[in-house]
Amino acid sequence: MQKLAIQGGNRLNGEVRISGAKNAALPILCASLLSGDTLQLGNVPDMSDVATMCKLLQQMGVKIGKDGGQITLSAAHIDKLEAPYDMVKTMRAAILVLGPLVARFGEARVSLPGGCAIGSRPVDLHIKGLQAMGAEVHIEHGYIHAQAKRLKGARIFFDLVSVTGTENLMMAAALADGVTVLENAAREPEVVDLAHCLIAMGAKIEGVGSDTLTITGVDKLHGASHSVMPDRIESGTFLVAATAAGGNITLTDARADILENVLEKLHEAGATIKVSGSTINLQMSQRPKAVNVRTAPYPAFPTDMQAQFMALNCIAEGSAMVVETIFENRFMHVQELRRLGAQIDVEGNTAVIKGCAQLEGAAIMATDLRASASLVIAGLVAQGETIVDRIYHLDRGYEHIEAKLSALGAQIRRLK
Ligand code: EPZ
Repeated sequence: MQKLAIQGGNRLNGEVRISGAKNAALPILCASLLSGDTLQLGNVPDMSDVATMCKLLQQMGVKIGKDGGQITLSAAHIDKLEAPYDMVKTMRAAILVLGPLVARFGEARVSLPGGCAIGSRPVDLHIKGLQAMGAEVHIEHGYIHAQAKRLKGARIFFDLVSVTGTENLMMAAALADGVTVLENAAREPEVVDLAHCLIAMGAKIEGVGSDTLTITGVDKLHGASHSVMPDRIESGTFLVAATAAGGNITLTDARADILENVLEKLHEAGATIKVSGSTINLQMSQRPKAVNVRTAPYPAFPTDMQAQFMALNCIAEGSAMVVETIFENRFMHVQELRRLGAQIDVEGNTAVIKGCAQLEGAAIMATDLRASASLVIAGLVAQGETIVDRIYHLDRGYEHIEAKLSALGAQIRRLK
């Protein structure tokens, strides 16, 4: 198990380039299944979830070429319509092959993802949507077995806003016979990026960015080239780190327009933020002020930034409330932050954090992707050395994070 050793106390200064978004790249990689032509992708981040998804697609028969951040995918000859349990259990996003496989090949066998650290993560809305489009779906031996001669357009209302649910059904609808309307659809920027890629492939989608998507199915989709959007959660993570540690950092190849809520909260915490084009500059010279956050679907405060703001509040001036409304168990970082001396009380989905002047370094353990980011931020500001264990969680969603942080002046190294 690899670990990170962090010496706290350094301010962060300098430039950091933001990588392509994991949560846009993963559905877009699956979109390659919708056509026999080649899909050319740029700005694909180098992280383990992307590698896992490529492996899954290759074992189905997708030919994949890699050249740095450029990936070409060709699903001309698919000979396996299955996503096996051993791959799905390590990366839930594998569920995103379900819609494309049923839409183009009329069949799919995808393992139920099962739960993960942050919650039970059901996929009932994905399945209900496919059934509404005429698919026969059976759950047997832990697998979703879906079949349809040809999916038919349908009107689907999401009881809950679901990011991958919206993405799965948007991809399925792209090749269905007739018009599909997705109501109460997710508006996350990653859903928008997928829609733009599908439109480049010839899909007919209206209402992109709104909570009602109207997709008119076509018979075939063709190849395209698409550049993956910048990762707004990686951006937010670095900005929170600099707000906590102090300093002056500039994000490049970033997008501020999809981070408004996060930037507003950092401003409230006392950071000075300047945006120009694709750069975001943040300067922080004093102790941050505590900020309340409440997670909700986009454009409200993102659940993927909740753990990072909790770390910030641990050393902020004053007390703050953090309310997690999306996942039922996304406070796994609390007990690890307490090991560093944080004062956090949890009542259901609400945490109250009383900021303390100083955290003490200690050995702690990552439990899920964004929790591990929050532990790294806490380690950057804790006195002495913090060892973060099980950082494979971190490697799933951040590209070379310790190299990027070291380049900003953090004292952080990976222990083999
Ligand atoms: C996506 O997960 C992201 N993952 C998550 O990012 C992110 O936290 C989440 O959206 C919310 O923004 C990817 O895009 C690969 P949901 P997803 O379906 O799609 C319930 C990270 O750290 N629900 O929007 O799985 C569900 O239990 C990861 O990068 C159902 O009940 O999340 C949750 O309470 C973590 N039935 C809520 O909806 C369903 O069929 C939102 O889940 C689907 C979801």
